[in-house]
Amino acid sequence: MAKSSFTSKAIASAFMILTGSVIAGIVTMVILYNTQISSMNPTPRPTFSTTTTGPPPVMRLPKNLIPETYTVFLKPHFYTRIIEEVNVTSPNQTMLFTGNSTVNFHCAQTTRTIYLNSKDLAVSKPKVIDTENNNNIEVSAMKHHEDESDFLEIQLKEALEAGGNYSLSLDFKGEISENLDALFVSTYQEGEPEFEGDTNTERFLVATNMEPTDARRVFPCFDEPEMKAVFYVTIIHRRFTKALGNEQQSASNIIDEDWQYTSFHPTPKMSTYLVAFTVSEFKPTPSTHERVTIETFARPEAAAAGHTHYAASITGKILQFYENYFEINYQQKTLDQIALPDLSPAAMENWGLITYQEGGLLYEEGVSSLLHKEVIATLISHELAHQWFGNLVTMKWWNEVWLNEGFASYMSYFAVDHIDPSFKARDTFVMRDLHTAFEEDSLASSHPLSPPQEDVQETYQIIEMFDAITYSKGAIVLRMLEDVVGEKVFQKGIKMYLSDFKYANTDQNDLWDYIQMAVDEDSGHTKVALIMKPWTTQIGYPVITINTTDGGIYQKHFLFNDSSESNLWWHVPITAMSDTSGLFSFTLEDKPEKKDTLISKSGEWILANVNCTGYYRVNYNPENWERLLTQLEKDPHRIPLMNRGQLIDDAFNLARAKLVDVSLALNSTRFLHNETAYIPWESAVRNLEYIVLMFDRSEVYGPMQAYLQEQVKGLYSFFRNYTYYSKVPEDHSLQRSQLLAIHVACSNGLPECIEMASKMFANWMNSNTTNGIHPNLRSVIYCQAVAAGGGKEWEFAWNKFQSSSDTSEKEQLRKALSCTKKIWLLNRYLEYTLDPEKIRLMDVASTINYIAKNVAGQALAWNFVRAHWDYVRQGAGAMLIEGVTSRFSTQFELKELEHFATDYELDSANRAVYQAIEQTKVNIEWVGEHKDVILEWFEGQTAL
Ligand SMILES: *[C@@H]1O[C@H](CO)[C@@H](O)[C@H](O)[C@H]1NC(C)=O
Ligand SMILES: *[C@@H]1O[C@H](CO)[C@@H](O)[C@H](O)[C@H]1NC(C)=O
Ligand SMILES: *[C@@H]1O[C@H](CO)[C@@H](O)[C@H](O)[C@H]1NC(C)=O
Ligand SMILES: *[C@@H]1O[C@H](CO)[C@@H](O)[C@H](O)[C@H]1NC(C)=O
Ligand SMILES: *[C@@H]1O[C@H](CO)[C@@H](O)[C@H](O)[C@H]1NC(C)=O
Ligand SMILES: [Zn+2]
Repeated sequence: MAKSSFTSKAIASAFMILTGSVIAGIVTMVILYNTQISSMNPTPRPTFSTTTTGPPPVMRLPKNLIPETYTVFLKPHFYTRIIEEVNVTSPNQTMLFTGNSTVNFHCAQTTRTIYLNSKDLAVSKPKVIDTENNNNIEVSAMKHHEDESDFLEIQLKEALEAGGNYSLSLDFKGEISENLDALFVSTYQEGEPEFEGDTNTERFLVATNMEPTDARRVFPCFDEPEMKAVFYVTIIHRRFTKALGNEQQSASNIIDEDWQYTSFHPTPKMSTYLVAFTVSEFKPTPSTHERVTIETFARPEAAAAGHTHYAASITGKILQFYENYFEINYQQKTLDQIALPDLSPAAMENWGLITYQEGGLLYEEGVSSLLHKEVIATLISHELAHQWFGNLVTMKWWNEVWLNEGFASYMSYFAVDHIDPSFKARDTFVMRDLHTAFEEDSLASSHPLSPPQEDVQETYQIIEMFDAITYSKGAIVLRMLEDVVGEKVFQKGIKMYLSDFKYANTDQNDLWDYIQMAVDEDSGHTKVALIMKPWTTQIGYPVITINTTDGGIYQKHFLFNDSSESNLWWHVPITAMSDTSGLFSFTLEDKPEKKDTLISKSGEWILANVNCTGYYRVNYNPENWERLLTQLEKDPHRIPLMNRGQLIDDAFNLARAKLVDVSLALNSTRFLHNETAYIPWESAVRNLEYIVLMFDRSEVYGPMQAYLQEQVKGLYSFFRNYTYYSKVPEDHSLQRSQLLAIHVACSNGLPECIEMASKMFANWMNSNTTNGIHPNLRSVIYCQAVAAGGGKEWEFAWNKFQSSSDTSEKEQLRKALSCTKKIWLLNRYLEYTLDPEKIRLMDVASTINYIAKNVAGQALAWNFVRAHWDYVRQGAGAMLIEGVTSRFSTQFELKELEHFATDYELDSANRAVYQAIEQTKVNIEWVGEHKDVILEWFEGQTAL
């Protein structure tokens, strides 16, 4: 699925639309997950007794029975619309689904018990047949395990023989979920009523979202990724609706006045979590591809208005790109994508039927930000990459889901770069993932990319794996490997890997073996597994320290909280350059070394980790830092672009870990008054954000704003002529810089910026219909105008938010509404998150977090989350905790958080709460030690 910050039950997507996430950098797709809260009818979460005696349940299926094919009939009884006609009694909506399934399996080990997974299903009529002689095998008992294993246990009167082939048929029924998981309902409003007297414009659809463990809630199955099988699916649905499935439709016919069925061709051999179907009234838009029929489905209105065009125009190209790159064709005849009004995560790669949130697929010319194309291209590229990494070749177990997600994220850089080089995906996306990974992985509570299988057993543990480490560190570690072995060798290795393991499952050792084969064929000497294992089986990453006076170099585990003892070390591939010499490379091992090449001659600088290909930070002796910073002020272009951003990032984070003075970090931002490139600015803004969070409630904030106003003036002026005429430059990376310029200038109080934003917004309010603000600039203008304004501006934005049917416009307004400085408005907005009619369930967590990000909303949001914890934790516990505690830096806040940890039921937010406690302790200490120095530094800058 698409990148996420998961918490178990819940969550909506705060898939921050690029335009809305100026500070966070780009495309932070925070995905939310499974909600178990029902909008209409909140059901308490099942709680598992912690007092039961006896051994803990076994979570994994025995491997004695091997499924081969499933034949599944599924009938969702709901209506896509309720027509209200005069004198006709309308039917009541129903959430029932019924079905039956027959699984054919091979018996590898004699047994009298069949175990499979089933959850929340009423299962009946078990029937077991020996398929070789068609003999019935009598069932003596059927029992559902009421624990986290979700086992359905079927006991037989006689044993199944090893080597035999059998089938198990079951009838079942269940309820369509209202919580965006398993088989779930989604609703939307659609235009004009079709019948006279029909006033109801509400429409319904159902869709599935099975990853990781919800297939068992739709039909009983062997619900583990390694238990691959072929699926023959038939959907029985209301007439005049359309059913989509994993495969091409094989037959469709009318059953009676009310019902029709649609059958699909058998799927390729695949994992249960990839099974998908939808029933809706959605309409398709075709894409071109030489072999595969590609269709992009959306609400009829959105499809008719052309909002699917951008996605449709790139999907064929991306698919073709991967086919060429992997030299393996996409396996099916059809590929459908569908833009769902409700979905959490942002997208899901079901084989042949990819589901997306609307914001991830729909683009409205003239309304959506040009930058939003990057979000769409990235998501499609990520999901299409999964058709190989994940669908064709799957990890053996969820502990190595990075083999799916890291690859999908990594491959998306290439595909996006291919379809539009102006996005500069390779630089920008790499920096985004690198920093996301660095941030998460700097805490002692991080986890390895590949933890032991035993640590990932229960569903909540599986869901916790879908985090920044898996997605971003996964991608970055692959990029490092590619850099070490070379692009050609890497590509060759993964081609062989995909080809040899198709329809099968792998673990990381298989990947290392295949890259090694490619290295050997190329007569290389790299020992792939030896180098890579420390990066995937250990938490964290190293900081390299170089002393250019004597050429000394050593590594140590980088942690924000440097008091944690750690003996970890890595094989660190290092590429460095100096002022005068070319590049030189070597591998650093555990022992400190001395290298002549690292001794600076006559005062020149040395730069390590050229283009940031390594997953490590670099520290230098103060003299070398000084020379690098001087170079940046004199002529920044001598330092590669990515390193200009990375030097700032390293300096700030080394300061956070107390390895360098904080004044060095602040000095690293001084060259920015001459810089217009996005990457260094983004790095500075993101890093200063920590200082902003720590100090925006203190006297440091004034001088800090004054300094930033000065620094950003050049950048703001650079774009002034664009901004004033509400235009944007051609180049995407300049468009990003322009947004940053306005954001930094306005939020630090540059008067001409605030005036500009307020005026543009006022023009819109006065004209009321025509919005003259360029789509790219809307997010930042809306936010700044709402921040500068009062109740009138807020009401206007709220009304626009409610009446707009455009997803990206809605996203921008939803974010902007959190920007007000008025407490009463923020309070009202928080209350609105409890009403699904006002704020969609999937948006609750991100909305609260937007409010918490605002200094005026911080305390309100924390109180609100605690007051409504039972409701909101099911929405997005972990993500909320991370958001609302990000400013915590006092003993009082730490106490509150510790009370919270003991008094509240944390469930899947458990890890997040303990990370927040650790982070708060780090913050308290950091603020205590640095406040005076920082205040002095900022005062010193403005006094100049
Ligand atoms: C609806 O029923 C009422 C009472 O039975 C009748 O007077 C009226 O004509 C009916 N309307 C229509 C449109 O059939
Ligand atoms: C709808 O539900 C109500 C209340 O449960 C019931 O009285 C009514 O008969 C139902 N209508 C139909 C058409 O089934
Ligand atoms: C499953 O349901 C379908 C449709 O109702 C029916 O045709 C089929 O015979 C059923 N299969 C089994 C094994 O019960
Ligand atoms: C670093 O990246 C730039 C631009 O992405 C590229 O032109 C340059 O060749 C790279 N340098 C190295 C040493 O890979
Ligand atoms: C760098 O090495 C020189 C010579 O050995 C030494 O005097 C100096 O203290 C070292 N600098 C740092 C920061 O360790
Ligand atoms: Zn994914």
